[in-house]
Amino acid sequence: MNILEMMKTNIAGATIPEQYKSLSVKEMEERVSEIKARLGKRLFIPGHHYQKDEVIKFADATGDSLKLAQLSAENTDAEFIVFCGVHFMAETADILTTESQKVFLPDMRAGCSMADMADINQTQTCWSELQEIFGDTILPLTYVNSTAAIKAFVGKNGGATVTSSNAKKMLQWAFTQKERILFLPDQHLGRNTAQTLGIPLDKMAVWDPIHHTLGYKGKVEDIKIILWKGHCSVHENFTPTNVENIRKTKPEMNIIVHPECPYETVALADYAGSTAYIIEMIEKAPSGSKWAIGTEMNLVQRIITQHPDKEIISLNPHLCACLTMNRIDLPHLTWSLEMIERRELTQHIKVPDEIAQYAIFALNRMLQRA
Ligand code: 13P
Ligand code: SF4
Repeated sequence: MNILEMMKTNIAGATIPEQYKSLSVKEMEERVSEIKARLGKRLFIPGHHYQKDEVIKFADATGDSLKLAQLSAENTDAEFIVFCGVHFMAETADILTTESQKVFLPDMRAGCSMADMADINQTQTCWSELQEIFGDTILPLTYVNSTAAIKAFVGKNGGATVTSSNAKKMLQWAFTQKERILFLPDQHLGRNTAQTLGIPLDKMAVWDPIHHTLGYKGKVEDIKIILWKGHCSVHENFTPTNVENIRKTKPEMNIIVHPECPYETVALADYAGSTAYIIEMIEKAPSGSKWAIGTEMNLVQRIITQHPDKEIISLNPHLCACLTMNRIDLPHLTWSLEMIERRELTQHIKVPDEIAQYAIFALNRMLQRA
C-alpha cells in the first residue's frame, strides 16, 4: 500500500488531536518517560538516524535501515514496536516480527517520496515488457525503500531487498542468479552500486514507469541492469556543483555522501555509504579533520554537535531535510504511546498476510547475506 492509499484507509490515525499542540516539551517528555517505564520490555522504540533529536533521545536503539530491520527480526519480546522512521521501515518491521507483536508509526503520513515512485501495477507492467525483451534472464532487486507489495513481487520472483549498506553484496549475489537485474526504485543507488562492480554506463538502462519506455545507449542485449526511474527528493539536492564549490573554497575538506545522491555527485565525492557508514567514518576520523556531508539535515546536524573537535558542514549549504522523517516529532510520539496504553490502535501498521508471506522471502534473502 502506498502512502496515499494508506491515508485513505486510515484518516483517523493520520491526524493528531489538537490538545497535543498545547502541551509543553517538559509535559510530553514526562509522559513519554512514564509510559516507557510502565511498559518496560513490552515496548521497543527503534529510531532511524534521520529522526529529530527530540525523538531519538527516547529511542531504545538507533540505526540505518539494515540495522533496524535486523533488530526487528531479532526482537521477540516487545508487544509494541513504535517505529520512529518512515512507513516502509514500519512495514518491514511488521513483516519481520511475530503475529503477536504490533508495529506503530507515530504519524501515518510519514511516507517516503522515493518508495511512492514505484507502485505494484507499474512494476507488473514493466516486468511483462522486460520479459518480452529479455525472456527469463532478469532478477528483480528492490531497495528496502519500497512498498511491501513491491517487496512481495520481488520475493515471488526469486529476488531480494537491499539497503544502502549491502547493495554491492546483494548485486554480486544477484548476478550469480541471473544475467541481468531490474533494480527498483532508486536509479541512483542502482547506478552507483553497479558502477562499483565495474558495469559501464552503456550497460545500464533506465525504465521510465510513466511512459513505459526503456532508455539505453548501447546494444539492448548488452544491458546488465535496468534501473527504475525513481530517486530521493532529498538526496538529489546534493549536486556536482556543490562538490565543485567545496573543492574550490575548502579544498582540504573530505566529501562524504549517501549513495542515493546522483551518480555525478558520488563520482566526485571522496566517500559514499549508508547513514551508518557516514557516522562511523566521522567517528573514526582524526580530531581536526574537515568534512562536508551529503545527507539528510537531522543527521548532519547531530554529527556536527557530536564532533566539536572536527570541522563539519553540509555539502549543500541549504540544509536538506526529509520532510516525511520530520513528521515524527515529540507530540506524535507522545500521542502514539498514549493511544497504545488506551488500546486504540489507529497508528497500527499491518501488512496484509497475502503480501507479507512473499515480502518476507525478499527480506530473508537479504538478511541471510547481510
Ligand atoms: P540508510 O539505510 O543508509 O539508513 O538510508 C535510509 C534512507 O532512507 C536514506 O534516505
Ligand atoms: Fe525517502 Fe529520501 Fe526521506 Fe530517505 S531521505 S526516507 S529515501 S525521501
